Amino acid sequence: MDKLLVHGGHTLGGSINISGSKNASLPILAAALLTDSDCIIRRVPDVSDTNYMIQILGALGADVERASGTVRISAQSIADTAPYELVRRMRASVCVMGPLLARLGRAVVSLPGGCIIGDRPIDLHIRGLKALGAQVEIEGGNMIFSAPDGLTGAEIDMRGTHGPTVLGTDNVMMAACLARGTTVIESAATEPEVIDLADFLNSLGAKVSGAGTRRITIEGVDQLGGGEHTVIPDRIEAGTFIAAAALAGDGVRIRRIKQKHLTAITDSLAEAGHRVEFDAAGESCTVRRGDTPCGCNISTAPYPSFPTDMQAQMTALLATSPGISVVRDTIFPQRFMHVAELKRMGANIKVDNGAAIVHGVKKLSAAPVMASDLRASAALVLAALTATGTTEINRLYHIDRGYEHIDEKLLSLGAAVERVRE
Ligand code: EPU
Repeated sequence: MDKLLVHGGHTLGGSINISGSKNASLPILAAALLTDSDCIIRRVPDVSDTNYMIQILGALGADVERASGTVRISAQSIADTAPYELVRRMRASVCVMGPLLARLGRAVVSLPGGCIIGDRPIDLHIRGLKALGAQVEIEGGNMIFSAPDGLTGAEIDMRGTHGPTVLGTDNVMMAACLARGTTVIESAATEPEVIDLADFLNSLGAKVSGAGTRRITIEGVDQLGGGEHTVIPDRIEAGTFIAAAALAGDGVRIRRIKQKHLTAITDSLAEAGHRVEFDAAGESCTVRRGDTPCGCNISTAPYPSFPTDMQAQMTALLATSPGISVVRDTIFPQRFMHVAELKRMGANIKVDNGAAIVHGVKKLSAAPVMASDLRASAALVLAALTATGTTEINRLYHIDRGYEHIDEKLLSLGAAVERVRE
């Protein structure tokens, strides 16, 4: 297990490029199972989650080649079963469900099991696929979907108690591409990653419209062909580096981004007293630490509101912002594992009923800390950048799930970080 040593107190400068989006890549890779023709997907980040999805596609029988950021997939003959050994390591593996069911009329996918960031049911995925005519049985920890005569388009409301579901919308959208007739998904997730998947599906010959709005319409087609696609920039990696630059930087330039995907994040940073200036095209920005940083209140909610995947990093930033901030997570109210570790570094934070109440302190101090999940580990890296001394972040594999070469990118900005291989 690798760990990261972060020697705090170095000022960040210079520029970095943001990688392709992990959360857009995962369903797009799975969608290649819908066709027996070749798919070429570019800017897939080299992180363990995408490598893992590539392994799953291989285990299902697809030929997959990866050359730097480009992945070629040929899923000519595939199996219908994704067993527990494959699914348990990454919850997003469930997005093979829709494509397998649509293509083969049967899908056996293990229930993904627990997740550290909170209870993550998949009832909405199941509800959506059932509405398309699939029968579902749960047996031995597996979901067995069958639709021997194919799927049929339907009107489906995907809203759950915490709002719409991103991967649930993706699963139903992918399955509906090969269903008979028209499917309308109401209360669809509007995240940019859903739009990117729809664009990829349309490049294969699907007829998806309305992605990015609450109502997506899919006219089923008999079969899909091959296609090529370039994945959108990772808005959460971008947000994480923007926060790092606000904490520890002096004019850091962040390139290969999409401004419109970052509005909620940059608005909150502006409220916390920092400056983010975009270029005219909205494809890069320069971040400057404010002279008088202050606290701010944040409440996560589905896109375009503040993303839950930036909650931990923002909490780390606010830990040393003067004043009191309240950070509420309405999507995953238990996603505060990072707080206990930040407190070990001297932060003054209380978690109460789905919210962190942060009293900004002057300085954090280094400590050995434990990464508990992907975004929590990013929060610890941010905290360590300005802490006094050397922070040792254990269980670095969490951060490698979703941040491409984070240590190299931080080094290139002037941070003093060392990956220690054990
Ligand atoms: N939910 C249900 N039933 C379902 C599905 C979801 O009640 O069947 C609830 C969830 O428990 C949660 C809310 O709906 O309270 C939203 O969850 P969603 O289904 O949208 O999450 P997801 O699609 O499984 C994706 C991202 C997550 C991100 C969430 C929310 C990927 C691969 N994962 O997960 O990303 O936090 O959307 O935006 O796209 C991460 O990258 O660190 C990460 C966890």
